[in-house]
Amino acid sequence: MAEASGTANIGVVGMAVMGSNLARNLASREGNTVAVYNRSPERTRKLVSEHPEAGFVASESVDDFVASLAKPRTAIIMVQAGAGTDAVISELAERFEPGDIIVDGGNANFHDTIRREKDVSASGIHFVGTGISGGEEGALKGPSIMPGGTAEAYKTLGPILASIAAVAEGEPCVTHIGTDGAGHFVKMVHNGIEYADMQLIAEAYDLLRTITKREPAELAEVFTAWNSGDLESYLIEITAEILKQVDAETGKPFVDIVLDQAGAKGTGSWTVQNALDLGVPVGGIAEAVFARSLSSHPEQREAVQATISSRPDVVEVDVDTFADDIRAALYASKVVAYAQGFDEIVAGAAQYGWNIDKGAVAKIWRAGCIIRAQFLNRIVEAYEKNPDITTLLEDPYFASAVADGEAAWRRVVSTAALSGVPVPGFGAALSYYDALSVKRLPAALVQGQRDFFGAHTYKRIEKEGTFHTLWSGDRTEIESAPSTH
Ligand code: 6PG
Repeated sequence: MAEASGTANIGVVGMAVMGSNLARNLASREGNTVAVYNRSPERTRKLVSEHPEAGFVASESVDDFVASLAKPRTAIIMVQAGAGTDAVISELAERFEPGDIIVDGGNANFHDTIRREKDVSASGIHFVGTGISGGEEGALKGPSIMPGGTAEAYKTLGPILASIAAVAEGEPCVTHIGTDGAGHFVKMVHNGIEYADMQLIAEAYDLLRTITKREPAELAEVFTAWNSGDLESYLIEITAEILKQVDAETGKPFVDIVLDQAGAKGTGSWTVQNALDLGVPVGGIAEAVFARSLSSHPEQREAVQATISSRPDVVEVDVDTFADDIRAALYASKVVAYAQGFDEIVAGAAQYGWNIDKGAVAKIWRAGCIIRAQFLNRIVEAYEKNPDITTLLEDPYFASAVADGEAAWRRVVSTAALSGVPVPGFGAALSYYDALSVKRLPAALVQGQRDFFGAHTYKRIEKEGTFHTLWSGDRTEIESAPSTH
């Protein structure tokens, strides 16, 4: 192992797949000398021996690792989010000096990042919570990177991150998102959108399979065709690949031999939990999270199935026309999911005092990350035209894209309901669009109910003030202070 030399401009702690791939990516770029460290040294030794070309400066103790870094010392932590991250942060913080930079590149909860930034920066050390998307391959070849932290830390860190980021239309997919937890917040929303996008694609597949009765291999061709044009994206591309796959053991389509219970590590749930706290309706994202939870309750599914003697007949459709309808419904629902995600970014920025450039976020998601898609260029354009739009759905391009697909969207959701195919994502997205579109919502009746049982008061449509009706008295109306209970 190399001795401490103080020559590495960047270090990586944590040599699991993401960490070692990121370290290899860093080492492959001109100008970087990369220090590496892992709690158990075997992993470090393996990486160093398998990749002599990387010229890693490897250490087997934290002291040696810290000594191997040039000043300002900059180290990226790539260990499991949670307690493991806290332990590494304190080991580094004890040894780092003011001006040095600790980067957490894991999928941390942004509330933890805010707390950690506060603690670490008290001693003059920078702490940068950074979202990194793109999975194992992205880490190796070019991820999309979402750093928070101070602008000062970004001066040192930015060029290093730009050297390894994916490139979209000539621009590296990294931007300083905002202070403290802003990077991890935006990565969280990215993952919420990822959940929604995946669920919508899965619903499209289910509809095609059940209603048009085509086999996975044929459907792979449909998704391949959809991967040019509006829907072009990494998730559509890999869907076609997965549908093509045949299980070697049974000869069946791969998708038919996988247990239909979806897992989740928590970032989707965080997106919804925080949306609830922020008061942002993200129904499309929430339904995607719930769809995974529902799938993972086989006992309830079996219990209900045991009560059912027959399921609805599938509605007869013209196969090609219906496939086109699903494509349109998928696109419209996807627009809604992204609009909801960006709404949460706007609300989070206001709540936590971040100045987030939405167009810049859309730009760095165009390559490297899991939700990379052609469509993000349209979002970039929408925010370039007007950074203050109240919803992406008011942008003329998206307004007409959704309006053009509207009739197909309604046919798909109603055909799904009549045929008994669950479409929580398509359905929630359409209801969201309808709720924004109608002139009056039944929220007026809800206000009446609240006032009836709890004197919670209401406002009137034609005059200022707060009112209460004496429901248990003579039912006359009085002016009232707004209710606080
Ligand atoms: C990425 C991914 C990555 C991971 C998520 C989702 O952007 O590279 O989002 O972070 O796949 O953790 O995982 P779950 O589906 O298990 O929640």
